[in-house]
Amino acid sequence: MDFKQELKKYAKIINEELIKYVRTKDCPEGILNASMEYSLMAEGKRLRPILVLKTYQLFKDDYQVAMPYAIAMEMVHNFSLIHDDLPAIDNDDFRRGRLTNHKKFDESTAILAGDALLNNAYMLISKDLLTLNEKKTQAFYEFTNAVDRMIIGEYVDTEFEGKEISKEYLEYMHQNKTGALIKASIRIGAILAGADKESTARLTNYAEKIGLAFQIKDDILSETGDEKVLGKPVGNDRQKGKCTFVTKYGIEKAKEMLAEVTKEAVEQAKFFGDNGEFLKELALYIEYRQK
Ligand code: IPE
Ligand code: IPE
Ligand code: MG
Ligand code: MG
Repeated sequence: MDFKQELKKYAKIINEELIKYVRTKDCPEGILNASMEYSLMAEGKRLRPILVLKTYQLFKDDYQVAMPYAIAMEMVHNFSLIHDDLPAIDNDDFRRGRLTNHKKFDESTAILAGDALLNNAYMLISKDLLTLNEKKTQAFYEFTNAVDRMIIGEYVDTEFEGKEISKEYLEYMHQNKTGALIKASIRIGAILAGADKESTARLTNYAEKIGLAFQIKDDILSETGDEKVLGKPVGNDRQKGKCTFVTKYGIEKAKEMLAEVTKEAVEQAKFFGDNGEFLKELALYIEYRQK
């Protein structure tokens, strides 16, 4: 398997699906719809929806079953990014190589576009729940819980700006603000496919590791990344007095901790043998990514 090719292939599948949910601009709320599309169709890595589909495929082939959840996850992720960039939260001007939503449109539009994306995610899932089964109910519960955790993590992030944070709280913040959606993406794939207990436990463990790794790397890139490649500002965390793994431990120690959690994730992926290859490669990709 060529990991990079595979990632590209699945990002394309997600993009082709996402575009179906773009709404018309030819109506009174046309600009709101344009603002939602601006963020949703920007060049994101699509990591979370890819995880939903790929985890599902560890157990079953017909990944269309998991598609509404994958798309809903990307919608929620985009909602979180739009609000994360707002002046009241991170006050950032660039994301994915272009102006943030509130800079391109305005604050009121960005707030409402975020709200609408969150609700569109739930509309999408509720439509799928018209054909109800126990797995779907469980997946929906997982989804709502993850959104709650993400919001809690974002709150802790803003609450501790400019303050000293303990080791425990820092990890709690990362595991929630970023880890929760990543973990849910993986668990939802497993739940919908009817994965056995042992596999689900392994995947949950793997997900917790890469969720944490993803944000440690985000912290590192915020210090040492190349703005042009990253598509978002560098140096902004420190400037705002954000609590990150880099401000807490320094760059070298943060890298060591990242390597450690990545190693642990790779160990979990090995349980799936050849089928776990994608997850193994993905953990390494997170450690070494530059964007
Ligand atoms: C950025 O997430 C926000 C975090 C949770 C760290 P991604 O790095 O996955 O953003 P996109 O979707 O690829 O732009
Ligand atoms: C983003 O965290 C987490 C969510 C949006 C839930 P950050 O604020 O650290 O991420 P970036 O660096 O802006 O993407
Ligand atoms: Mg933030
Ligand atoms: Mg931010």
